[in-house]
Amino acid sequence: MLDIRSGLEAAAAAPAPPVIRREDYRAPDWLVPEVELAFDLDPARTIVRARLSVTRNGEHDRPLRLDGEELELLALRVDGEAREARFEDGRLVVDLPGSSAVIETDVAIAPEKNSQLMGLYASGGILCTQCEAEGFRRITYFADRPDVLSRYRVRLEADKARFPVLLANGNPIEQGDAADGRHFALWEDPFPKPCYLFALVAGDLQCNRDSFTTMSGREVELGIWVREADLSKTALAMQALKDSFAWDERTYGREYDLDRFNIVAVSDFNFGAMENKGLNIFNTRYVLADPETATDGDIDAVAAVVAHEYFHNWSGNRVTCRDWFQLSLKEGLTVFRDQGFSEDMGSAAVQRIDQVRTLRAAQFPEDAGPLAHPIRPDSYLEIANFYTATVYNKGAEVIRMMRTILGPEAYRKGTDLYFERHDGQAVTCEDFVRAMEDASGVDLKQFRLWYSQAGTPTVQARLEQDGEGTTLHLAQQVPPTPGQSDKQPMVIPLRVALIGAESGREVAAEQLVLLTEGEQTVDLGTVGEPAFLSINRGFSAPVLVDAVRKPGEIEALAAGDSDSFARFEAGQELMTRDMLAAIRNGGAVEVEAIVAAVGATLRSQSLDPAFKADAIALPGESLLIEKLDAADPARVHEVREEVRRAIGTRLGEDLQRAYTAASAADPTSLSGADKGLRRLRAATLALIAAGDAKLGASLGQQQYEAARTMTERQSALMVLAMLGTDASGKALDDFFTRFEDDPLVIDKWFAVQASVPDESNLHVVEALQQHPAFTLANPNRLRALAGSFAGTPSAFHRADGKGYDWLAEVIVAADKLNPQTAARFVAPLGRWRKIEPGRAARMRAALQRILAEPGLSKDVFELASKSLG
Ligand code: ARG
Ligand code: ZN
Repeated sequence: MLDIRSGLEAAAAAPAPPVIRREDYRAPDWLVPEVELAFDLDPARTIVRARLSVTRNGEHDRPLRLDGEELELLALRVDGEAREARFEDGRLVVDLPGSSAVIETDVAIAPEKNSQLMGLYASGGILCTQCEAEGFRRITYFADRPDVLSRYRVRLEADKARFPVLLANGNPIEQGDAADGRHFALWEDPFPKPCYLFALVAGDLQCNRDSFTTMSGREVELGIWVREADLSKTALAMQALKDSFAWDERTYGREYDLDRFNIVAVSDFNFGAMENKGLNIFNTRYVLADPETATDGDIDAVAAVVAHEYFHNWSGNRVTCRDWFQLSLKEGLTVFRDQGFSEDMGSAAVQRIDQVRTLRAAQFPEDAGPLAHPIRPDSYLEIANFYTATVYNKGAEVIRMMRTILGPEAYRKGTDLYFERHDGQAVTCEDFVRAMEDASGVDLKQFRLWYSQAGTPTVQARLEQDGEGTTLHLAQQVPPTPGQSDKQPMVIPLRVALIGAESGREVAAEQLVLLTEGEQTVDLGTVGEPAFLSINRGFSAPVLVDAVRKPGEIEALAAGDSDSFARFEAGQELMTRDMLAAIRNGGAVEVEAIVAAVGATLRSQSLDPAFKADAIALPGESLLIEKLDAADPARVHEVREEVRRAIGTRLGEDLQRAYTAASAADPTSLSGADKGLRRLRAATLALIAAGDAKLGASLGQQQYEAARTMTERQSALMVLAMLGTDASGKALDDFFTRFEDDPLVIDKWFAVQASVPDESNLHVVEALQQHPAFTLANPNRLRALAGSFAGTPSAFHRADGKGYDWLAEVIVAADKLNPQTAARFVAPLGRWRKIEPGRAARMRAALQRILAEPGLSKDVFELASKSLG
């Protein structure tokens, strides 16, 4: 097996983890149709008794091999007879003569010592599980791979006083008391499932109960289980759950299939949530929400994640993945489905802007850096590292493009065929594309390159107009990425229209152009006046567009493109153009065009407030850094601040008028209109403060004190924290005291302070690390501090490199507890290729120091070594 450590400057002594390759896939040697599990639950020492019926898969004489990790094996029996255990490469190997057998194991595990939060662990007195991707092997010996599907019968037993609620997948069968103050519950899941969808929960939980009647008239009991104190914050999640059930019936014809659907919220969780069959387990962050403690953005995220996990019941559970290289099969599709839900429940235009913002902030840099990989990766050391923006968000864009190319009806026929054909199976991305082809009759051969080629394509566009007509010249390049030097042209669906330079109207109606060649020309017919090019409308393809622009073109599109997304884009292009020019030439920024565009947006009578808020926000510093070679982050910050100041001073009156008008938002309403007003209020306050610190501070303080929603309170607090006055200290103290007992709000207290864009903010971050409320053990808290700091370029990229050193130390310390979460912070250090040589050398040194650490996890090793490479 390839050793990717060789050639590394800082190779550690441990043997290299093996590379897992997609091309090496082999069907399982043994199947496990039936599983019985009995848990004797105890946080200190839990006993798991497993009974697996196994059957030989095909003609071969290989033994049964079971994965296991940190298990204490107490007994092994084969067909009732005790057996001596044999291990090879850490797996339990069982020689079996016949074509089937019953394997029984008894193991002991220690949930309260499980700081990785994979397998069975304890979170605030609740016992819960996380098995995706490879956590089930930390519970019992098993064929821990998604293409082994089993029917589960699960018995839970625990102390009745400490763990009054006992939940598992499927339907409850029986429950009762046991000896010594214990009790038990028996659960059965009729649907065969891979072990990554297994779940159990035991704890002192209260339930928000409701029900949903499905399209065929079946009554489903819904439950959201939380600590008693949190019960009042579950109403929004419950509404989102019912909306999701209804939406999936309406939009995809998908009906729920069990009598129960349970959600449990736990505060220690490595990511957002998990779609375990009939028993979703969530990070509290994506369940608990009310307007006083959660922002509008948080509330929208709760609905989106509830929907996402529910939709997995079909796209993920009924039809699952053959192997982990196919992860985007379920994740890309399910993100696309939850995006559709959010578009239908709110404003589609605003949603689309948010989706693209996320893609640009998280996925484009990944695709342009050392960790670039196709949405269907070819190899990995640690699969947990591939739950990425590429697999999820670019994966969703790929599904969206198929829908755009096929049209909504053929797309729906395609998903119907996919679900019908593969129900109960573990399949591949290829199976999905083939269902789309078969249902639509459209050949997607070249389109499949989106699954295999990494890197964000660039599309060059030039409009040529003469007496003969209008021609669009297009060209595409797919950049080289690690392991992929030569790329082929992709299928790029571009929604294109022409806007008259004089009339401002659409002079060529929107059409779908399929760019399939390296270079291509498109005849757009004759139009009666000079025209401007509106391209990639609605962000029809996840590409970078590099268009030759006429003088005034981008300004005109920013002021009046008939596609709201394209209009937003034009504004961003304009701001980026003028800021990059100043960053590159070192002089003052040419702010006239930006000020004019922002002013027109603020004064517009027709635009809605949410759109205005998006349109007046400048592209972030990270985005600008991505567009530069050898960026000086301090210079990027300086230029962007100069523009913010210019907007704040030159448009002071417009901003204040918009701010005051937006203050009319009804704090008790979560309507799109009221959320939009609050969004605009936050955006205008930040710009007012940029132009006039004193006014910003006094408005910020007033807004903070009068705030009735967290949206208002948090945005005011952020402005105050950035201004760094006495009032900020007071507000921060007040915020802490007010919400001391609410961990999710205290996360905000950490995040706000760690997001202050100031070279000296490291001191604040270091002090916060010593705060009694800080802990490396809770992923939300760690993300609030380290994630926010590393996501703030002007603070993170200190010239002396101390920001990098700090992050490297945190990664090393966190890795000892929780490799999966520690590894999430490596990527910011891997961006060194975009940064000027002095800082870049310090970033590399920090990566080398991480790699020199003995006993590094393969999670961190993989990302740090690839980032350096
Ligand atoms: N399947 C979960 C979801 O819906 C996420 C699981 C993440 N697992 C991991 N090892 N990072 O998105
Ligand atoms: Zn998912």
